[in-house]
Amino acid sequence: MAEKTFKYVILGGGVSAGYAAREFAKQGVKPGELAIISKEGVAPYERPALSKAYLFPESPARLPGFHVCVGSGGERLLPEWYAEKGIALILNTEIVKADLASKTLISAAGETFNYHFLIIATGSSVIRLTDFGVQGADAKNIYYLREIDDADKLVEAIKAKKHGKVVIVGGGYIGLELSAVMKLNNLDVNMVYPEPWCMPRLFTAGIAAFYEGYYANKGIKIIKGTVAIGFTADANGEVKEVKLKDGRVLEADIVVVGVGGRPLTTLFKGQVEEEKGGIKTDSFFKTSVPHVYAVGDVATFPMKIYNEMRRVEHVDHARKSAEHAVKALFASTEGKSIEEYDYLPFFYSRSFNLSWQFYGDNVGDTVLFGDNSPTSENPKFGSYWIKDGKVVGAFLESGTPEENKAIAKVARVQPLVESLDLLAKDGLTFACKI
Ligand code: FDA
Ligand code: NAD
Repeated sequence: MAEKTFKYVILGGGVSAGYAAREFAKQGVKPGELAIISKEGVAPYERPALSKAYLFPESPARLPGFHVCVGSGGERLLPEWYAEKGIALILNTEIVKADLASKTLISAAGETFNYHFLIIATGSSVIRLTDFGVQGADAKNIYYLREIDDADKLVEAIKAKKHGKVVIVGGGYIGLELSAVMKLNNLDVNMVYPEPWCMPRLFTAGIAAFYEGYYANKGIKIIKGTVAIGFTADANGEVKEVKLKDGRVLEADIVVVGVGGRPLTTLFKGQVEEEKGGIKTDSFFKTSVPHVYAVGDVATFPMKIYNEMRRVEHVDHARKSAEHAVKALFASTEGKSIEEYDYLPFFYSRSFNLSWQFYGDNVGDTVLFGDNSPTSENPKFGSYWIKDGKVVGAFLESGTPEENKAIAKVARVQPLVESLDLLAKDGLTFACKI
């Protein structure tokens, strides 16, 4: 079987891989030295597009439009770019075995790839309802969304089931973004999730109340406090009904499940130190194994600002960690050092005409400010999180670029707060004054 050797291999061809490749080129990687191995069939792209513009009924986003690095305002890296730089894009290739001791990777087709330096950028996989044995969860037209192939299947389903009924299982990022885009496609949408309000990982009850009200006004029906316990299918094996734990039964032509992700670390189990479900790294994304780095969703790294090891499943960190790792790798080979990664968490989402940003940490007391009425023509509201008398996190819906910069600064600077009542009254003005 074929055997190939590269000085540098990036395992995974997603967001981190693309931003890492750009940094490799900046650092002067030579033709033939770097390979990206990906089980996907396309060059690295901005994954967030898949749950948003890719599924729009009008002028949907399509490749090559959203290859990296357009998501952060950079140059779009088309497949030709990799060819020009002599970077091997080894696509449709799943690695099924990794041996960090002998520095080899083996693909499903049996090819061997040898490397000197490895960057693990395998991202996450979806948690499936079949993983916990939900009855009937293998029926046709039950979809998950992680990669472009999944998005293509959804596009086909939307076409095939015009004006049909969709049940969205999960009230997190996928749940909120997919229910909105399904509604835009004129489908009848029900959302089901177990918690008392949507996106409980981040949203307070006050924040969630706005989005739940707004979605209800768009005609999306929300069922909270229960889960899907089974599915019935028709004679073709296509899903027809979703059975809920509270006894209700929902009709469905399409089901989209978004019940969380899991970092893809299985290839490296027992070979590298892990922490908090991810691969443990230092502030330069070096793992416990020499010459092996981990970036993006899979890395558990020192979050300097909070003096804690954390893992982050968001695109901004995927981009920045990848760039930082490559800079560190080149610096270390030249006997130089660079600054430690000092990351301020940044998450965002968009749906309908809404767009929110969050910076910092969502711990401590909270203060809601602004107009969060779901029926308001121009809603603009936010929330601060306050811990030990300091603002440590800030959320803003419908902020201008300057306002978003201001809340980012607040979360970074962590100013002291005199009184929560005053903060609530000052609202966004507080951030804009920092
Ligand atoms: P990423 O998942 O991008 O890439 C991993 C790559 O590795 C994939 O190409 C995969 O096929 C490949 N791979 C895995 N195992 C392999 C193997 N054994 N062999 C070969 N290849 C292998 N975040 C945010 O901040 N804002 C947002 O709006 C969104 N929106 C969003 C939408 C959707 C649909 C998803 C799924 C995710 C988001 N995210 C997001 C999260 C964000 O996209 C995510 O955190 C980054 O893509 C993570 O980048 P990585 O490079 O770590 O993994
Ligand atoms: P998530 O963790 O955001 O949400 C999971 C949700 O699943 C929970 O909030 C809960 O409501 C629900 N849930 C759990 N068990 C359930 C059950 N048995 N039945 C019904 N609901 C159940 O995960 P996700 O939305 O699946 O997103 C997957 C990944 O993609 C994450 O890494 C996420 O960060 C990423 N993503 C991010 C964005 C963004 O940042 N804008 C957008 C899309 C996806």
